[in-house]
Amino acid sequence: SGGILIAPSLLSADILNMERHIEALEGEADWLHVDIMDGHFVPNLSYGPALVKALRRKYPGAFLDVHIMVEPAEDFLDMFISAGASLIALHIEAAKHIYRALQKIKDAGLYAGVALDPGTSEELLAPVMHMTDLILVMSVNPGYGGQSFIAETLNKTRALSELRRERGFNYLIEMDGGAGPKNIAQIAEAGCDVVVAGSAVFGHPSPASVIREMRRLARR
Ligand code: DX5
Ligand code: ZN
Repeated sequence: SGGILIAPSLLSADILNMERHIEALEGEADWLHVDIMDGHFVPNLSYGPALVKALRRKYPGAFLDVHIMVEPAEDFLDMFISAGASLIALHIEAAKHIYRALQKIKDAGLYAGVALDPGTSEELLAPVMHMTDLILVMSVNPGYGGQSFIAETLNKTRALSELRRERGFNYLIEMDGGAGPKNIAQIAEAGCDVVVAGSAVFGHPSPASVIREMRRLARR
């Protein structure tokens, strides 16, 4: 395998210096993680499709990993599809018709992801695992950057990794929240493929060096 993928979360980048902060990644980021919050499904507000559109215009080759914390999730798919997302991960807790939502994302030619809150069981995804490109295991309660990692969620990652092996599924497993150099070895060991890191990356004077360090620690 090519090793773990690192997806810096722009939520922790300085909104007035977004461009400079993306350049500080020095091309080390595998994906750019974009957190969309509606002040309804989650308590916080962030930004909308205009940011995704601007990122797509400026970085045509970037993999835009769009995590939508909005409800009802189905009502917001079109706008993020046309804004230029590469992948949309919606919360199962925020969708009434998860099968239809995943179909819609895939029919548009994007990668389709499902996110699970820390309190949601992976078993709920059984009927859609075959059509899911990515399962996003939230390792904090969604809504804010800079929270501490909920270690129990590693069990969910282990279970999903085992299930994938046993049943031959193809989804990637992403963990999001409270991740950084201090816990990436455990995260990788649990079977995670993509790690989101916001404050650990952008809270450091050299974001690119944090990514290189995380990649090195994940390899052991
Ligand atoms: C939380 C977001 C995360 C968050 C991660 O709702 O989904 O992506 O920005 O930030 P850190 O890495 O600081 O926990
Ligand atoms: Zn996120």
